[in-house]
Amino acid sequence: MASITPIPIQNYALLDDEECEARIIAAKAELGSRCIILGHHYQRDEVFKYADITGDSLKLSREAAASEANFIVFCGVHFMAEVADILSRPDQLAILPDMAAGCSMADMANLVNVQRCWDELAQVLDVDATVTPITYINSAADLKAFCGEHDGIVCTSSNARKILEWSFERRDKVLFFPDQHLGRNTGYGMGISLDEMVVWDFNKPLGGLTEHEITQAKMILWKGFCSVHQVFQAEQIDSFLQRYPDTQVIAHPEACFEVCQKSDYIGSTENILKTIRMAKPNTRWLVATELNLVNRLHEECKTQGKNVHFMSPTLCMCSTMFRTDPQHLTWVLENLVAGNVVNRITVPERQAMLARRSLDNMLSLS
Ligand code: 13P
Ligand code: SF4
Repeated sequence: MASITPIPIQNYALLDDEECEARIIAAKAELGSRCIILGHHYQRDEVFKYADITGDSLKLSREAAASEANFIVFCGVHFMAEVADILSRPDQLAILPDMAAGCSMADMANLVNVQRCWDELAQVLDVDATVTPITYINSAADLKAFCGEHDGIVCTSSNARKILEWSFERRDKVLFFPDQHLGRNTGYGMGISLDEMVVWDFNKPLGGLTEHEITQAKMILWKGFCSVHQVFQAEQIDSFLQRYPDTQVIAHPEACFEVCQKSDYIGSTENILKTIRMAKPNTRWLVATELNLVNRLHEECKTQGKNVHFMSPTLCMCSTMFRTDPQHLTWVLENLVAGNVVNRITVPERQAMLARRSLDNMLSLS
């Protein structure tokens, strides 16, 4: 649940970035250790530079849990700030500078559809005994609570394999939502064949599947995807390799199966950064993930003679990550200095308690 206050136009929305810079630095100095700014790797440069800690979803959720600060300002998207709130102590608050910063993939699964799926699976299977629900961290808190209630677990792009292994030790099947690609790419990498995976179409009765298909499947994949990572295509790799055959290809596991199959490496945002930073000088990289990360990495690595290229010829950013701007950051920080809290993210108590179970299951494995 969120209390939404619109950003004041005159004092904040119309500020230029330079003025924001001076005011953000002053507000941060005033707040000191009471405030920590967490920044996801997809944040734009104008915001990313203010982050005290940057990382992928797993790293940032751990940092949120470990932080001593009272105010956790999350420059990322809504589900990340929800996780920070769920994992926080009672004296801590999670703040999302722009409440409209959501995740279009997370929106592809909701509790009504997931509960309906579970009930329909129960018509075919002893669902509680045979299926572990796994939600990608890119999902709303009520879906994490659903997993907590059904002995399930959360995963991120960097620990999905471990989470699947844990799940298959306990039960025969998994229901994996909302990202079919992360589920498929990870499962396939573990030796699960495509024949053992089915896609649950949440707009159709019984997910558009036959009872036989459901009983045969090991992985039931939700029909969700990330629109940003959809732009990457296997043909883009082929044509790039024709021009530069010495290129190494790295993809985020939200990219489709064909792209991940043609990639030399698959990894979370943090893993992509680590892999390329640790690579030999004078190497060339083709990267399938969000543009802000790739552009920054290109700038950072060019001094070592590394060439880092964005995979798609069409430039595509995560528009919801882009919503967090210096103006909103100035606004929430100055309010904290003045003793006001704007854009606090609060997960209702029972939901947070159940969601914490599935997050703790994940954190204990990671
Ligand atoms: P990471 O956990 O790899 O940072 O991914 C989060 C995300 O939203 C990718 O689109
Ligand atoms: Fe969501 Fe895709 Fe944006 Fe990641 S890149 S936050 S999955 S919409």
